[in-house]
Amino acid sequence: MSETLDRIDASDDVLDAAVPPDVATEGDAIDWWGMLTDPKFLSNPYPDLKRVRERGAVHFDPVTGLYFVTRSREFGAMAKTLDMGRDTRFWANGWNSPENRARDPETYELFREFQPQMINANAPDHRRTRSVYDKAFRPGDMTRYLPMMEEECRKLLDALPDDGPVDFMDAFANPLPHRISLRLFDIPAEMDETVAKWIAALSWLGNIVMSPEQKREAQTAQREFKEYVRGHLASRSADPGNGLIGISLAAAATGTMSEEETLNNVAMLISGSRTTLTLLGNGLLTLIRNPAQFELLRADRGLMRTAIEEMLRYEPGSSIIPRAAINDFQCGEVRIPAGALAIGLVGAINRDPERFDNPDEFDITRNPNHHSAFGGGAHICIGKALARMTTQIAFNALMDRFARIELAGEPVWWTDRSDQRGLERLPLRFGRA
Ligand code: HEM
Repeated sequence: MSETLDRIDASDDVLDAAVPPDVATEGDAIDWWGMLTDPKFLSNPYPDLKRVRERGAVHFDPVTGLYFVTRSREFGAMAKTLDMGRDTRFWANGWNSPENRARDPETYELFREFQPQMINANAPDHRRTRSVYDKAFRPGDMTRYLPMMEEECRKLLDALPDDGPVDFMDAFANPLPHRISLRLFDIPAEMDETVAKWIAALSWLGNIVMSPEQKREAQTAQREFKEYVRGHLASRSADPGNGLIGISLAAAATGTMSEEETLNNVAMLISGSRTTLTLLGNGLLTLIRNPAQFELLRADRGLMRTAIEEMLRYEPGSSIIPRAAINDFQCGEVRIPAGALAIGLVGAINRDPERFDNPDEFDITRNPNHHSAFGGGAHICIGKALARMTTQIAFNALMDRFARIELAGEPVWWTDRSDQRGLERLPLRFGRA
C-alpha cells in the first residue's frame, strides 16, 4: 500500500460521512488498526486473520474509513474490476486530498513524486506502461538470465560456512534477489550496497505507518535513486542493448513513457527484488518446520514448482494489497463506495477454506493452488516469473550442496511493518553430510 493511515482525516465529520448506509457496523468491534500493527499479530497473524475471515468476507472499519477483504472470491472480484484501481489519487481521504495536502505537504510531495508508474496507474495508462515490460518479464524471455542467476547464487553459497551458524537472511536471502535485479539492469556490483540502502528506505512507503524520520529518509532515497537511474540510462544511450535498459530507453524516446514514468518504473522494477527475499526466508523456514514435506521435496525435485506456490500461499510476503474505488463497487455483500480504499489481507485470503482444502496445512503437492500472493487482475505481479526462477535456483542449489539444513536459533519475524511479512533473522546451520 502506498499510503500511511496516519494521514487519514479521522475527525468525526469525516468518519460519519465515510460510513456507508448499507454496511452494518454495529457490534463489529474489530480493532483493525490495533490488530494490524500489534507485534504479536505480526509474529503470527493467522489466528486473528482466521477470526476476521470467519466474521465476514468484506468489512468496513468506521475508525479508519477503510474496507478490508478477507476471502478469495471477493478479493478476486475486487482485483479484476475496472471500478477499482491502484491509483490512490481516487482515495478521497488519502494523501492527495486537499486536507492532507495542506496538513502534511512533505508526505504529499513524497507520494506525488512516486505516483507516475505502472503500479499506481489505472487503465488505460496502466496498460501503456506495463506493456513496455510485460514480454521481457515473461518466463520465456527471462530464461536468458538463468546463467547470471545461477552464478550469483553460487557465489553466495560458496561463502556460506560449513556447519557454522549463519543468518540466512543476511548471508543469502537479502543479497541474492537484490544482486540479480541489479545485474538485470546492468548496474555494477560496486553499487549493490548503495542501492540496497535506497530500496530499504523506500520500502517504508508501503507500510501503513511511517515515522517522520522514515519519510525524510524515503524522500532522500527517492531523489538519489532517481538521479542515479537517470545518469545510468543516459550513460547507456549510445549503446542501449536489447535488455531492460534498451527497452526503457526506447519507450522514453518514442514517448510511450514520460521521463518520470521511466525513472520510477526502472526504480520500482529493481526494488521488486525486496519481496523475493521474503519468499526465500519464509519458504525455507516453512520447509524446516515441516520436515516430512522437506524430505518429500528432497526426494522428488519435480515437486519444486508446486512447493514454491505452496510457500507463496502459506507464508505470503506481501500482506496487504490495496485498491481505490473509482466507482461504487458491489464486493460480495458489501457496497464499496467511490473514493474508498479497500485492502486485501493476503494472509487471510490465502487460507480461505472456501478456496483451499485444509488451508492451514502446508502441502507441497497442492495443485491447483490459486493463491493471491502475487495479487490479481491487471496488476498481478510483473516479476512473478523472476521471483519463481530465483527461488527455484536457490532451493535446488541449497539442497544440492547441503544434506542438512537446520535451525541454529529462534527465527525473528519483522514486527515493525504491516505491509510485508518477512524474517529479520533466520539462524541456520548447513551441513554436507
Ligand atoms: C516473491 C516475490 C514477490 C511477491 C510476493 C510480489 C508481490 C506483488 C504484489 C502482491 C503485487 C501487487 C499486485 C496487485 O495489486 O494485484 C505486485 C506488483 C508488482 N511487482 Fe511484485 N512481487 C514479488 C516479486 C517481484 C519482483 C522480483 C519484481 C521485479 C520485477 C516485482 C515487481 C512488481 C511490479 C513492477 C508490480 C506492479 C505491477 C503492475 O502494477 O502492473 N515483484 N507484486
